[in-house]
Amino acid sequence: MEENRFITSTKNLTDSEVENTLRPTKLDDYVGQKKIVENIRIYIEAAKKRKEALDHVLLYGPPGLGKTTLAHIIANELGSQIKIVSGPTIEHAADLAAILTNLNTNDVLFIDEIHRLNRSVEEILYPAMEDYALDFIVGKGPSARNMRLKIQPFTLVGATTRAGNLTSPLRDRFGVISRLELYNVEELSTIINRSANILGVELDSKATIELAKRSRGTPRIANRLLKRVRDYAEVKGNGKITLELTNSALKLMDIDDLGLDYVDRRILDAIINKFNGGPVGLDTLAAATGEESVTIEDVYEPYLLQLGFIARTPRGRVALPLCYKHFGIKLSDEKLKELKNIEKGNNNGLN
Ligand SMILES: Nc1ncnc2c1ncn2[C@@H]1O[C@H](COP(=O)(O)OP(=O)(O)OP(=O)(O)O)[C@@H](O)[C@H]1O
Ligand SMILES: [Mg+2]
Repeated sequence: MEENRFITSTKNLTDSEVENTLRPTKLDDYVGQKKIVENIRIYIEAAKKRKEALDHVLLYGPPGLGKTTLAHIIANELGSQIKIVSGPTIEHAADLAAILTNLNTNDVLFIDEIHRLNRSVEEILYPAMEDYALDFIVGKGPSARNMRLKIQPFTLVGATTRAGNLTSPLRDRFGVISRLELYNVEELSTIINRSANILGVELDSKATIELAKRSRGTPRIANRLLKRVRDYAEVKGNGKITLELTNSALKLMDIDDLGLDYVDRRILDAIINKFNGGPVGLDTLAAATGEESVTIEDVYEPYLLQLGFIARTPRGRVALPLCYKHFGIKLSDEKLKELKNIEKGNNNGLN
């Protein structure tokens, strides 16, 4: 199911090849996320001045927003080497210990999906992050003793889609914790233009904006849509991407004017029609739509929340007036009033 979606923000195989060519390598080329970039720029400069390792950085946020990209940029700007590992693939504590002892001074260790490290592996990180040291026990029984081995100062960059799943001892050891936000249309337009330049694709400004609007605030999706529309324009037109070609290509992909596809529609349809507008619990919603709870939460919901289509309440997910409007459903005054109140509660940060 997931493989057939054009707009899923999780990575697929063709993405991997192209992502490397489209990935910016300098902070100056990293579009958006202004606050994060501004801060990281200062921290990097300060660390370089002191010739110290940059503080450990945790990057979190939905898939495809640029966590891996930013990790590479950090290493690049520091002038350091980057070692890349993925949380679930480190099985034994000794494997991580070996990686840590092999780092050079002020290198970057990037751990992707850091929330999926197993506990015994994670515990290696505590003294490593805090004191640049590894603690282990030598010998057995009464003669056993603790040994401490120093390692080179390094920067851990952790990435996760679920910061809430990190244990607090791990989270507390990061000096910089940054949440990546969905991108706005202007930022996505800049990213699309940049990618079009690199790929040698011609597209007009209306087409750029249309693609940006339908990219769900996600650079990975923006780049993917650009490539699909390029294919379409090569076959159906003369290669130049116009607004008209963009619209017909996206229609063929069943992506609507807000970037929603059939899975989003299925989720929203379930909330509205099966559960009477909600509130409906995440797991119930997952069962009703045949999607996994984590996928709904990490991949689909961030954009639906940003659109103001749904709200998360203590009792579950609720469809909001804008969502009904999008599907042309009229609400009674009473229901509208009730939903406006929920909306207000959400905006006040009551949940
Ligand atoms: N700020 C940005 N400026 C320009 N391009 C970006 C930016 N962020 C992401 N991209 C583009 O989007 C693609 C996906 O980004 P990236 O792989 O860094 O996302 P991610 O957050 O690591 O996703 P995941 O959670 O799936 O690992 C990159 O290859 C890059 O081309
Ligand atoms: Mg990544």
